Amino acid sequence: MTKQKIFPARTISGAVAVPGDKSISHRYAILAALASGASEIAHFSAADDCRRTLECFRRLGIEIEQRGDVVRFAGAPAEGLRAPRRTLDAGNSGTTMRLLAGVLAGQAFKSKLDGDRSLRRRPMRRVIDPLTQMGARIRAREGGVAPLEIEGVPLHAIEYKLLVASAQVKSAVLLAGLFAEGVTSVIEDVPTRDHTELALEEFGAEVIREGHAIRVAGGSKLAGRNLTVPGDLSSAAFFLAAAFVLPESNVLVHEVGLNPTRTAVLDALARMGGAVQAVSVRSEGGELVGDLAVRDAPLAGGVIEGAAIAQLIDELPVLAALGPYTEQGIEIRGAAELRVKESDRIAAIVENLRRMGATVDERPDGLRVEGRRAGRLHGAAIETRGDHRMAMAFAVAALGAEGPTVIDNAECAAVSYPDFFATLEKMVER
Ligand code: S3P
Repeated sequence: MTKQKIFPARTISGAVAVPGDKSISHRYAILAALASGASEIAHFSAADDCRRTLECFRRLGIEIEQRGDVVRFAGAPAEGLRAPRRTLDAGNSGTTMRLLAGVLAGQAFKSKLDGDRSLRRRPMRRVIDPLTQMGARIRAREGGVAPLEIEGVPLHAIEYKLLVASAQVKSAVLLAGLFAEGVTSVIEDVPTRDHTELALEEFGAEVIREGHAIRVAGGSKLAGRNLTVPGDLSSAAFFLAAAFVLPESNVLVHEVGLNPTRTAVLDALARMGGAVQAVSVRSEGGELVGDLAVRDAPLAGGVIEGAAIAQLIDELPVLAALGPYTEQGIEIRGAAELRVKESDRIAAIVENLRRMGATVDERPDGLRVEGRRAGRLHGAAIETRGDHRMAMAFAVAALGAEGPTVIDNAECAAVSYPDFFATLEKMVER
């Protein structure tokens, strides 16, 4: 387990390109594997999570070739996916497990999905319940956790109202819907990332979006596509945040995905006085892409709550880590979902911010971090709990602290961003 030492920095500047978006890479991989005909996906995410999805499809009989960040899929054979001989290992990836559960529920074979210790603790009933309503047979361990044993059966369409604002649940049901008889609908009150809907359309599925409903026709034919994955805004967020921690900063992040269901983090920063400028915005494969430019600015801080929470859920750790660098501090409300991510992120953020000397109040569904008046952060030993976003969020907080910080288990950053620490090191000046 590698420890990463982060020394305080004077400033941060320069241009950076982040790996391909993790959520979109999963979706393109799944649909390219299910499509008839070849696909080539460029700028595919370097994340360990997305590698897991590719590995699962190899075990399901799909030919996949990777050169650098370009992944070629031969497409689904006429007879469809093959029964896997071994357990499918989703590693740390909730997206792999939940989205594949949807796909596997509709196949004519048995399969088993498992993951690491963290993933084995995360709630799976949220996908088991709707898939069971569609006719699937899924066995989980007590408490509705992985491993999942899935017995594929002919599925029937349902109309499902999401009980948690989760794009993973929505996507599991829509993907199962491809293999169901009839038109499957998902109703979401709070909009969540819509990459699955856009990707389904891109690969030629019949998708109808009306109001809060998303409908997909069973038996929709998918055709291979050549697509480029935009950079991951959730990874870019660490560099944007660093620019607000350090004075005289000037950072440009190239080719970042700017899907409106993901940009709530930019709105939250702007509301606090941290404007991020999006330039050269265009559409690619139904997704918006652009460059993001940011300079240091004093952040006022404020409250993050409501519908935005689902749309910036992955950026909350780094936003919380910015709290001590703001004028009034940052409060996060209505984010109990953070407790069932790769770690209990509320507990992990609170513990590590306190280690650095911040004043933090922990709440069941959020937290409040006091602003700069509560005092400057000092370097500390950070316990990531094996959570990639903890490792990166606290690297950012450490840049403005007094004295060095040591991040334990820092290799966990590879779950979403293998080169994060090296890239950050190149951009800071001391
Ligand atoms: C994701 C959705 C979110 C997010 C996760 C990726 C996705 O999870 O936190 O990192 O790709 O659909 P939930 O859908 O469980 O909120």
